[in-house]
Amino acid sequence: MRLSVFSAKPYDKKYLEAAHAAHPEASSISLTFHEVSLNEHTAPLVHDANAVCVFVNDSLPAPVVDALADRGVQAILLRCAGSNNVDLERAAARGIVVANVPSYSPEAVAEFAVALLQTLNRRTHRAYNRVRDGNFALSGLLGRTLHGQTVGIIGTGKIGIAFARIMKGFGCRLLAFDPFRNPAFEEYGEYRELDELLPECDIISLHCPLMDKTRHIINSETITAMKKGVVIINTSRGGLIDTPAVVDALKHEHIGGLALDVYEGESNLFYSDHSQEIIQDDLFMRFMTFPNVLVCGHQAFFTREALTEISECTIRNLLEVMEGVCPKNSLTKDVKARVEEPQPVRTI
Ligand code: NAI
Repeated sequence: MRLSVFSAKPYDKKYLEAAHAAHPEASSISLTFHEVSLNEHTAPLVHDANAVCVFVNDSLPAPVVDALADRGVQAILLRCAGSNNVDLERAAARGIVVANVPSYSPEAVAEFAVALLQTLNRRTHRAYNRVRDGNFALSGLLGRTLHGQTVGIIGTGKIGIAFARIMKGFGCRLLAFDPFRNPAFEEYGEYRELDELLPECDIISLHCPLMDKTRHIINSETITAMKKGVVIINTSRGGLIDTPAVVDALKHEHIGGLALDVYEGESNLFYSDHSQEIIQDDLFMRFMTFPNVLVCGHQAFFTREALTEISECTIRNLLEVMEGVCPKNSLTKDVKARVEEPQPVRTI
């Protein structure tokens, strides 16, 4: 069994190799690491691999899935929970198993959402620079006490609940919207319909997946319904936010603060060093001009505990594929991998 790992950074390699070594039954698996992301241009790099392992900014629409199938790939292993970057239907139709890591550390992401919120709110990033420069003035660092503020949570799955637990500890009033209500949330706050939640909240944090129904859930209409001065936190997926609408609302001071760990155009930027280049994404660069916008490069998951679980789970998923069973974390139900040698690449 040969696994080609894409978007492989040194830390991915380190943790995957450790998980591989920890499973004697995985000794027949050989790992190949590619630093580049998997997309239509890089799919030809897949040679003799039975499975590929990908991350959030690898792009696997139908033509890429077809190219993998033609190369004999039988499994796509996501090192993340979200699967919006893979054409699951096409994979199933081509007999490819797609499996994810459904939960690696919801607390890691929730804690990071809180870190973003408090950095933005209490301006600790600015204070850090000021003090190092010998400037101890407080003007411009004024924040708000979180205790007593109303926080809206959109999506009360694993991360949304972990976030609710922390915010309850701050003494916030919690409201949530989720079409599939989670009884666990009732311990922390109350559910509302989206249009009822928006005008009540001082802070809104997004914890739902990116799907057709949630794409641009933050748009000019929903922003208009929000309280003036609202703070929005997005650690979920960039596509949940209509970027031009948010830029407009920041310019008009309707949005009072924005903290992002994800961005719609992130696949061209994140996880690489662009510091010596002219960044061409004008919308992203507009964000950089606002003093009340904080952007991080999709790092909410990035803890030792999460990397360990991601790697362990990926190897477990692959072992199940090798056994010829449908993995517990399969997103292509009923598809079982054919454990066989990859087919030679068909050329036209
Ligand atoms: P989950 O599947 O446990 O929860 C998602 C929740 O969203 C569910 O309760 C679901 O009912 C709800 N939902 C579905 N449609 C909705 C809608 N239209 N409006 C509101 N809620 C809706 O997922 P989990 O683990 O909590 O992750 C949430 C998201 O966080 C993932 O989809 C992923 O995009 C993102 N994520 C980001 C990471 C990062 O490093 N920044 C790391 C891991 C996940």
